[in-house]
Amino acid sequence: MSDRDPEIRVTESQTLDWHDGDMPYSQKFGDHFYCRTDGRLECGHTFLAGNGLPERWGLPERWKSHRTFRIGELGFGTGLNFCETWRQWKLFRPAGAKLHFTSFELYPMQRDEIDRALTRWPEIAAERQAVVKAWPDEPAGHIVIDADAQTRLTVVCGPALEGVSAASADFDAWFLDGFAPSRNPDMWSPDIMQALHDKTLPGGTFGTYAAAGFVRRNLQAAGFTVERRPGFAGKREMLCGIKPAP
Ligand SMILES: C[S@@+](CC[C@H](N)C(=O)[O-])C[C@H]1O[C@@H](n2cnc3c(N)ncnc32)[C@H](O)[C@@H]1O
Repeated sequence: MSDRDPEIRVTESQTLDWHDGDMPYSQKFGDHFYCRTDGRLECGHTFLAGNGLPERWGLPERWKSHRTFRIGELGFGTGLNFCETWRQWKLFRPAGAKLHFTSFELYPMQRDEIDRALTRWPEIAAERQAVVKAWPDEPAGHIVIDADAQTRLTVVCGPALEGVSAASADFDAWFLDGFAPSRNPDMWSPDIMQALHDKTLPGGTFGTYAAAGFVRRNLQAAGFTVERRPGFAGKREMLCGIKPAP
């Protein structure tokens, strides 16, 4: 904690401000962690619906060849997207099917910061409490949390490009959530888009609030078919797309 301002906390090299009491803001990237209207609903619109979820979980053919559905996320942040996804997964998952949610995060937050941010949403109180309870005192390396018998969370700490390139399995869906492209272009580079395309199953998808032209072009150049849709809360556009089956 800084002596000057108890609302500022330094973690490695990322400093958080807290707006409205519970809304984290990264000084390093000059951006909020999610939209100020309602980050939980934004997750449902942008990342879940953007990837055709939860509907895809209900398709019997999806489960014929693979018993695990893999979601990859760029930027774990507060874990809001994981908590909302886990909540919906519990409502819609077929018996025996598994979800492995893997998130790539350079600056993992502290337990009290995650708790502070997510307490805003009573809808995910159970999921928040479970993550906070299992979260390590000094988050680093690979954090693996078996959330329940059908749900595993892995947070790979380090630069996303390294983590995605080293991932051993291919993903069904991607949540691209690395701050605004203008504020963190590294998270939207041609290299990272190519790495995540290489680690996507044929027919796999992505969703993101980003709509910048260079992001769309990098995703297309990597091999995704990209679609523009209306964004959350009046935002004109978001992007989603698919890796075409050969
Ligand atoms: C918009 S926030 C993610 C919000 C998060 N999904 C949530 O549910 O709260 C972006 C995250 O990307 C992380 N990040 C920024 N650059 C990164 C990089 N090069 N590699 C991995 N993570 C990065 C930041 O530390 C931050 O936590």
